[in-house]
Amino acid sequence: MTVKFAPSLLSADFARLGEHVKEAADAGADILHLDIMDGHFVPNITFGPLVIKAIRPLTSVPFNAHLMICEPSRYIEAFAEAGADRILVHPEVCPHLHRVLQQIQDVGKSPGVALNPSTSLDCIEYVMDQIDEILIMTVNPGFGGQKFIDSMLSKISDAAAMIRLSKRQIDLGVDGGINTNTAPAVVRSGANVLIAGSMVFDGPGTVEENLNRLIESVAGVSALV
Ligand code: DX5
Ligand code: ZN
Repeated sequence: MTVKFAPSLLSADFARLGEHVKEAADAGADILHLDIMDGHFVPNITFGPLVIKAIRPLTSVPFNAHLMICEPSRYIEAFAEAGADRILVHPEVCPHLHRVLQQIQDVGKSPGVALNPSTSLDCIEYVMDQIDEILIMTVNPGFGGQKFIDSMLSKISDAAAMIRLSKRQIDLGVDGGINTNTAPAVVRSGANVLIAGSMVFDGPGTVEENLNRLIESVAGVSALV
C-alpha cells in the first residue's frame, strides 16, 4: 500500500503561512492537514474556515480538516465551503455520529473519524460504511511536538484489521509524534497516511528536506499483515 504524507500546518510559521503551504505542496505533500481547535474540546485555539479559504487557491493538494471542536455539526457547511476536501470529526463530541457523517456526505465531502488515544475503536463499528478514514491520535490532541504514545501501535493494527474486514477502501491515518523514529513502526502496523507537524515545519532542514527525510524513513517498509 502506498503511504501518503500529510504535513500539519499547526507547526507552520503563521506569519508566512502561504509560503509554507506552497513549500509543503512543492516538496511532495499528498495532503495538507489542517488542525482546527476551539479551546473547549482541546485546550488550544487555532484557526477556522476563513484561513482555509485564504490558502485554498494556493495549491491543488487536498485539504483534510481535523475538527477538534465541540458541536462540529454547526460548522460542517462552513468548512466545506471554505475548501476542505475531507472532514474528520471526533466521536467523543458527536452523540449523533451517524448523522454528522451523513451531513459531511451531503455537502459533497469525504467523512473521516479521529479517535483520542483513550477512545475505543468500538464506537465506529457501525459507521464503517460511512467513513473514508480512521485517524488514530497517537498523542492527546491539542498541541504539536508531543511524544508518540507507543501503546497506540496495537490500536493501529486493530484498526487495520477492522478496515480489512469492512472490505472498503478506508484510509488509516496516524497523527501525533510522527518522525523518522516512529514512522516505520506505524507503517508496519498498517497506517497509510502519516500526519507530521513539527517534524516537517520545525525540523533542522527546509520543509522539503524534512519531508524527504520522513519519506525516506519508511521507504521499503510495509504493513506486517
Ligand atoms: C495535535 C494535532 C496534530 C499535530 C501533530 O492535536 O492534531 O495534527 O499537528 O503535531 P506533531 O507532528 O508535532 O506531533
Ligand atoms: Zn491533527
